[in-house]
Amino acid sequence: MGARKTTLGKEVARLLRRPFIDVDDAIAAEHGPIPELFASRGEAAFREIEARFVREALARPEPTVIAVGGGAVETPGLLSEDRATVVHLLVDVETAWERVRRSSRPLAQDEVEFRRRFEVRAPLYADVADAAARDVDDLVLAAAGVHVERGALQRLGELVPGEGEAALVSDPHVAGIHGMDAQLALGPRLAGRHELPSGEEAKTLAAVDRLWQELRLDRSGTIVALGGGCTTDAAGFAAATYLRGISWTPVPTSLLAQVDAAIGGKTAIDLPQGKNLVGAFHWPDRTVVDPAVLETLPEPQRLEGMAEVVKAGLLVNEPLWELPDDELVRRSIAYKAAICLRDPFEQGERAVLNLGHTFAHALEAAAGYEGLTHGRAVALGLLAALRLSGRDTRVVEEVLRPEPARVDAERAWEAMRRDKKARGGEPRFVLLGARGPEQGVVVPEADVRRELGRLIA
Ligand SMILES: NC(=O)c1ccc[n+]([C@@H]2O[C@H](COP(=O)([O-])OP(=O)(O)OC[C@H]3O[C@@H](n4cnc5c(N)ncnc54)[C@H](O)[C@@H]3O)[C@@H](O)[C@H]2O)c1
Repeated sequence: MGARKTTLGKEVARLLRRPFIDVDDAIAAEHGPIPELFASRGEAAFREIEARFVREALARPEPTVIAVGGGAVETPGLLSEDRATVVHLLVDVETAWERVRRSSRPLAQDEVEFRRRFEVRAPLYADVADAAARDVDDLVLAAAGVHVERGALQRLGELVPGEGEAALVSDPHVAGIHGMDAQLALGPRLAGRHELPSGEEAKTLAAVDRLWQELRLDRSGTIVALGGGCTTDAAGFAAATYLRGISWTPVPTSLLAQVDAAIGGKTAIDLPQGKNLVGAFHWPDRTVVDPAVLETLPEPQRLEGMAEVVKAGLLVNEPLWELPDDELVRRSIAYKAAICLRDPFEQGERAVLNLGHTFAHALEAAAGYEGLTHGRAVALGLLAALRLSGRDTRVVEEVLRPEPARVDAERAWEAMRRDKKARGGEPRFVLLGARGPEQGVVVPEADVRRELGRLIA
């Protein structure tokens, strides 16, 4: 009561474009006002009616956001439904009482009784909930199965879903820094430790082949991918394909992997012909994000991730880059996760995440994927996208400090014409319009060439 389940429920349903059902409203629509129902038939009868409505809502075939009154936990088994993600909306007793004290709610007429119920129910909520939330971003994270918590690495054993064995996959560098914590936390569930090479070498058929052959999991097993985006991409691809697909839990350790690579269910390896050309959409059951591990991340790696944080901030029109790490990570993930939940297989809207990336990919290709990191290329691409959108570029200059790339301008232009999103050799862009991001924008060739030229030393 007073946790704002209707307000936040409606908000997250709108954000994820899912139907919304408020169980109390549905009951009132059929049986009349709840205070009167309580008065005439008593709490036990009300709980029975409520249970019927909750079961009906849970039986709906399409993904739905359902707001359920707090008392439903007192009906045994009602909320321990496998098909639903149960989220506990956190509120303290003072705030809850302030919100409901002057209402007609039958169980909010007496403060002492209200507080007593609050105390009784608190552990019941913790017991049934899959996730806890304070705001709509937390609700999006719960819907996407992303758990963000400082210290989560030490609780990995509880956080990896299922009961089966876990295979821990990481690169030698991350294994040396955080591997022991992960092993200890996985405890008896740990079935094996595996190493992928560092960097893009992990995303090769040879590396994934070795991993496939080493794995000793059955179909109840889980791959735990601890590391940067190269590790999560390659281990995720192994999970998508091993035994025709087993579950996996990314534990991203670089900023880039936390806010981008490990979010949205895309896994991939590279081919000599290009990056990420072989892969699968394979959503993890849960993604465990511990912002504390970023403390060991070198500054250049941090900048790689910041390029994506700045991109997300520009798209959502909020200075996410100014937030302290835990919030910066949580908010950036929530932004990407909401888009990916609306467009899980990249059929439409998800393309806005390519802001700045058409320029970036062209510069990377012109550099032969050497000497120019993806984050630096994205920073330059953001500059061009902002200029073409008629926007101020200061944030990119101040936060990402991009330096012009040493590449051949003609090679970059040719690469841009071959871009996945180009049609008939005409590149398409994501730009920022007055009402938010616009995708598939065609820009006159002369303007594109001019902006590309400004990014090149
Ligand atoms: N699947 C997707 O949707 C998606 C999205 C964006 C990027 N990606 C992929 O992500 C990859 C790049 O990811 P990345 O930049 O994380 O690369 P990475 O995995 O190579 O990690 C970068 C470096 O940081 C080190 N590292 C990671 N965490 C650390 C920590 N906590 N402390 C110290 N060192 C740490 C790693 O050992 C590595 O040397 C690319 O292959 C890209 O294609 C995928």
